[in-house]
Amino acid sequence: MLERIEEIRAEAVAAIDAAGSSAELEGLRVRYLGRKAELTGVLRGIADLPPEERGEVGGVANKARKELEALLERATEAQDAAELDSQLLADRVDVTLPGAPPRPVGHQHLIARTTRQIEDIMIGLGYHVAEGPEVEHDYYNFTALNHPEGHPARMLQDTFYVQSHPDVLLRTHTSPMQIRAMETQPPPIFIVVPGKVYRRDSDATHSPMFHQMEGLAIAEGLTLADLKGTLLAMCQGIFGGERELRLRPHFFPFTEPSIEVDVSCFQCGGSGTLAGGERCNLCKGQGWIEILGAGMVDPNVLGFVEDYGYDAERVQGFAFGLGIERVAMLRHGVPDLRRFFDNDVRMLEQFS
Ligand code: PHE
Repeated sequence: MLERIEEIRAEAVAAIDAAGSSAELEGLRVRYLGRKAELTGVLRGIADLPPEERGEVGGVANKARKELEALLERATEAQDAAELDSQLLADRVDVTLPGAPPRPVGHQHLIARTTRQIEDIMIGLGYHVAEGPEVEHDYYNFTALNHPEGHPARMLQDTFYVQSHPDVLLRTHTSPMQIRAMETQPPPIFIVVPGKVYRRDSDATHSPMFHQMEGLAIAEGLTLADLKGTLLAMCQGIFGGERELRLRPHFFPFTEPSIEVDVSCFQCGGSGTLAGGERCNLCKGQGWIEILGAGMVDPNVLGFVEDYGYDAERVQGFAFGLGIERVAMLRHGVPDLRRFFDNDVRMLEQFS
């Protein structure tokens, strides 16, 4: 009997040593320690042995059982750990692999992008961005901007009026926001106003809807020199650091003096001729490109916002208005403004 126990023990130890998986080890546990195992039978039959054998056989069989239990436990632990390791290795994810295949995403329209670029430049100069309504009152679009009764710009060929409300119209410029902004905050004020404006006009360089960027600065002691310096910084930000400005006298009802501003041509460097000697097509040989209207805010305009803290004796200011399409056309060589609004992706995707 003792020999048989030793045989079983030795066989089980060898089998456990050789086992290659936790499933195999579980099989060995059933086979050597399970209810129907031979060793279990021996232990169960101890009581039937002659009394003088019981002690020794019982002791040896129990020791063998304990040894096998301990051995199995250790082997199972080691096996589980090894299996976990190899599973982790097999499951390893390469986080540096690209995710889902890149999908084409949309991009800003060139007009939106140009608007943002100009906003960024002006924010850098300390300006805030403000927006206002496109459906506007005659008061803000004209009256408070010092348009005398009967001014040609009020006439029907330029302005879209709302039929049922003759004093309501689609704003013809972003300038009404000058008044609205001053009504909401006292001086000093430094704002730019991007937005859509509407005029009854349509050809290669005019569309019934287009975009402007208004600028308004009101503070004590502002002069035309401040206006020129501000516009120079803005134009250099848009068209390049080498650009120069030229101011020409002009007329707007709401600025006095009023100016039109030309920027030196960024294609020919202002010379009017290209490297090959031919005439520059962008500035038509002039060396200058007309870019915006501006001027010192007319004291009459401040009179309309006197009640909001604007005293024309104390504060001065300047304003300017820039056509966004015009900037985008010049910078990207777009020949016809209407292409911006045809929504032809072949055109728009060129500016992604
Ligand atoms: N509002 C003018 C226009 O649309 C431009 C402008 C703005 C001129 C501000 C002077 C000052 O033509």
